[in-house]
Amino acid sequence: MAEHLHISSGTKEEKYSTLLPQVKNLMANETILMANLANLAAALNETFRFLWVGFYLVRGEELILSTFQGPIACTRIHKGSGVCGTAWERAETIIVPDVNAFPGHIACNFASRSEIVVPLFGKNGQVWGVLDIDSEKPDNFDETDKKYLEEMCNMLHE
Ligand code: SME
Repeated sequence: MAEHLHISSGTKEEKYSTLLPQVKNLMANETILMANLANLAAALNETFRFLWVGFYLVRGEELILSTFQGPIACTRIHKGSGVCGTAWERAETIIVPDVNAFPGHIACNFASRSEIVVPLFGKNGQVWGVLDIDSEKPDNFDETDKKYLEEMCNMLHE
């Protein structure tokens, strides 16, 4: 398979709907989790050029930094801390239009203005990690991001 991503030049919806089958294809051909996490972070970054896109994985009572694209980031986040730890605790996607207005937001990068965090669910509904995306633009994430990112995260298996 050619390792080449076709990126739509259209709307956000068009970009995601072009990306989705390609991500499905990448995942279908690989069973090693770390390889799929790495390629999904890269595919999202290549398509949208986010400030930061990556994964944190649950280890005990903490999230530990995993594969990502972007500047260096904090390595450990406690359950219930920041946007990532809150999404884990609540077991739901959190969209933050203004990071400065989110109580307890962890500023790994001061250029970040808005953020979305999507939990990764196991077979029994337990959260085993999160996808975290940061944008330099305020209010950059909406229900379209949520819908597609949740669908992509559902393709990942611990
Ligand atoms: N802002 C996140 C921390 C992770 S970095 O953005 C990569 C949070 O509040 O959980």
